[in-house]
This record gives sequence, C-alpha cells and structure tokens, in this order.
Amino acid sequence: MRGNKINAGTKIPAHIAMIMDGNGRWAKNRLMPRSYGHKQGLERMVGLIERAFDLGVSFVTVYALSTENFTRPKEELEGLFNLIRTRFEEYMTRLCARGFRLRVLGDLSLFPADVQEILIKQQEKTQIYPEGKGINIALGYGARAEIVRAVNLAVAKGETVSEQSFSNLLYTQGQPDPDLLIRTGKEVRLSNFLLWQVAYAEMYFSDKMFPEFSDGDLEEAIAWYSERTRRFGKTDEQLEEKS
Ligand code: FPP
Repeated sequence: MRGNKINAGTKIPAHIAMIMDGNGRWAKNRLMPRSYGHKQGLERMVGLIERAFDLGVSFVTVYALSTENFTRPKEELEGLFNLIRTRFEEYMTRLCARGFRLRVLGDLSLFPADVQEILIKQQEKTQIYPEGKGINIALGYGARAEIVRAVNLAVAKGETVSEQSFSNLLYTQGQPDPDLLIRTGKEVRLSNFLLWQVAYAEMYFSDKMFPEFSDGDLEEAIAWYSERTRRFGKTDEQLEEKS
C-alpha cells in the first residue's frame, strides 16, 4: 500500500535504482529552460542518495544520460556536460566520502575528452573504499548495448556463459541486483535501463517530476517496497516453510 511511513521494522532495500525522469517538463511548467530542470534534478539526485545512505541502502544506481539521449539538442547536452564540469567533483567527493565507490556505467567515449577525464578521475579516487557500497551513475548507458558488449566479451574469450559469469561481464559486475526500481515523471516503462539486472526488482512509479520527488517520497517508496512479498518464482507456501 502507498502512503505508509518508514518505521523500525521497515525492510531497507540493499540496492535502489532510479530513473530520474521529468526534469525537462518540470522546468517547462515553470517557463524555465530544460537545463534548469537538469540542474535542479542533479541537486535532488544528491539529496536522495544521501537520504538513501542514511537509511542503510548500500548501492544506488541512477540513470543520468542514455545512449538515446545523445540525439537531444546540442544545447541541452552541453548543459549536462557543463553540470559535470562544474558540480560533479564536489558532489561525488561529498557523497563518496561516506565510504562509497563511484562507478560510471556506460560508454564514456561518447563524452567530450575533458568530461571523460573528470568522470574517470572521480571514479579512480573512490577505489580506496571497500567494494560493498557504491554509487553507479549511468552515463552514455543503454542496457541493450551493455548486453551486446558482454556477449562480445564472452565471444572474444571463446567462452560459453552461465547466468553468473554473464552478470560478471556487465558494468555492474560484482554488485547485487537492484531490489527496488523507482521511476518518476509519470511514465511507466524501463527505457533501456538495467534490463538484465532488474529481473526481480520491485517497480515503483511516481507521477511526480524528478525535481519534486522529495526525501519523504523516497521513504514512502521504501515503505511500499517493504510490504511486498518477494517470491523469486516460489510459492507463498514454500516461502513460509523457509522462514
Ligand atoms: C530524462 O528526461 C532525464 C535526463 C536525460 C537527465 C537526468 C539527469 C539528471 C537528473 C541530473 C544530471 C546528472 C549528472 C550526473 C550530470 P528529462 O528529465 O529530460 O525529462 P522530460 O521527460 O521531462 O523531458
């Protein structure tokens, strides 16, 4: 049920994935340029990651730019690159200092050289932290491209794959799959995000535009998640026997 609040018994997901949709529409409704929506979206992204960490979430994966988004107007893309140029280091240093490794998921070669450098440098700086907690930022990411890349890696090694070994060829190698996927912005689709990894994620769709998705909304999504029965293909009776 929606509308519940978090309490001491709430099950906290280990890994939350977020599709941060609706920044452009939010800005347009305020007669502001789309780039203003992305700026506000970035602020909200940082706030939500902080709140998730406070609650005990170990991994957060955010969809910041898809491969398909590279067809957007040049000014909008430049606006996003400029956010990385001006804000990324400060925000990621602050977030990762809490012991989280940063991983950028996607094809960095799509970005201008100076932006690639910032992303790689930030990622490397956080390798001092243990592997068990992380922030994944999907940039230049597409799940189909990720899967095709993994297939090609396996073919190049001349190997057949198992589900486990295939998972290890994906950008999210070594990490648990998302337990909860949140999408804002009124759309109810996956848009080529983590198609392999969300096989058993609980999916939460919000009508709010991303810049207005508050910490309280995140908590409501987690409280909703906590009420779900995750059967992973089993029956209720089998689950009861196990517990
Ligand atoms: C989807 O559509 C969202 C994006 C293309 C960008 C999301 C990016 C951020 C929230 C912050 C940027 C983060 C980094 C790390 C640079 P849309 O929001 O453009 O919206 P629309 O569906 O309303 O048009």
